Amino acid sequence: MKYSAPRGTCDILPEETPIWQAVERTCRRLFAIYNYKEIRTPVFEATELFSRSIGETTDIVSKEMYTFTDRKGRSLTLRPEETAPVVRAGLENNLISKDQITKLYYFGPMFRYERPQAGRQRQFHQAGVEVFGSDDPLIDVEVIVLAEQIFNRLGLLDLEVDLNSVGCGQCRPEFIKKLKAYFKGDIKKMCEECQKRLEANPLRILDCKEGPCQNYIEKAPAAMDTICPDCKGHFKAVLAGIESVGLKYKINNRLVRGLDYYTRTTFEVVSRQLGAQNAVCGGGRYDTLVEELGGKPTPAMGFAIGLERLIKVLEAQKPDTASRKKRLSLYIATLGEEARGVGFDILDKLRRAGISADMDFIGKSLKAQMKAADREGARQVLIIGEDELRSGKAILRNMRTASQEEIACDARIIVEKLQPLT
Ligand code: HAM
Repeated sequence: MKYSAPRGTCDILPEETPIWQAVERTCRRLFAIYNYKEIRTPVFEATELFSRSIGETTDIVSKEMYTFTDRKGRSLTLRPEETAPVVRAGLENNLISKDQITKLYYFGPMFRYERPQAGRQRQFHQAGVEVFGSDDPLIDVEVIVLAEQIFNRLGLLDLEVDLNSVGCGQCRPEFIKKLKAYFKGDIKKMCEECQKRLEANPLRILDCKEGPCQNYIEKAPAAMDTICPDCKGHFKAVLAGIESVGLKYKINNRLVRGLDYYTRTTFEVVSRQLGAQNAVCGGGRYDTLVEELGGKPTPAMGFAIGLERLIKVLEAQKPDTASRKKRLSLYIATLGEEARGVGFDILDKLRRAGISADMDFIGKSLKAQMKAADREGARQVLIIGEDELRSGKAILRNMRTASQEEIACDARIIVEKLQPLT
């Protein structure tokens, strides 16, 4: 019986992890520069947390959640996203209050039962931030600029920042009413999903990707024309802030996002190098969610970057980032049992001194050990044979220049020689 990774999931192999680590390092550095602190939450939560926050009628909640009952009959769900868990953890641990700004960031796997395709998995990873306690448009600017800075530092080109405002609890019902009236006449000509959405969640129609629906969606009323003066003023201030820091953006009236908790600003960063699934980052403001989940009214804003998609674009644009391999300082090649024992002792001392080193553990020939050293990218090889043991000397070979020198078979001396190189 051969097992394979479940459909829609993939292994991130040793040759790929360096690029993941590089991306995570850049994210962490920027999160710290912007004064965000890391939070880690469980990968599963009470199902109700997600159905209440993301919305019962969204695709995520109605079709895509990995939900199961535990042995005590509780309904639990593998997190499809991290905003709701961060709000839950923030409230439970008194991190969120309306009189202070709380800035949190996270990394981790998310789970959605979607149809797998390029850029869409059932287990994928996000890096994201959430900031609580301020409805200042400059916070929206900060969050959007932070996302842009991550892409910028990684050297990603050809990205577009799309912005929209979906209004607030006061003005959105009016917009939804307008949308319903607009789509009603033609809804029979639109896809089955849109027909369902007309009653259940008309906003979601704007997000439909089906070809025949596009004609109708293109001419649909824009939220911008319906939102209340406060929301309009807020959005204008966000745009002014974005312009003042010199960030290019596009207003996208269709940007309603796939989660129901958004209010006012929504945004996405899209790459032209990805196919249909072209959003590498999505986020926005959610000023009512904290209260809906049992807290005091507290405005909030955040984003999440899809790391698989980000890495795909990065690999396409900067192949050298992927091939930057961590090298081993020293490989110890030995000949004979006694030499192996001495080699292992030196190996142990080198590692304790912080030098990356390895040796053979399957009784390979000297030639095969040299090949293994090469495969591991070792900079130098220490060769210990019977003659060397007798004379108390070993051979140190530089793998790049192929030059060799004798060195005392003494861990302290070898450490002294190698340490400045590591
Ligand atoms: P989201 O747009 O659902 O937002 O996901 C954010 C990003 O995660 C997407 O732009 C995409 O790059 C990636 N992503 C989503 N689904 C998949 C998938 N099936 N396979 C691969 N990548 C995927 C959220 O999750 C919100 N919680 C973001 C947020 C934070 N809003 C406010 N704060």
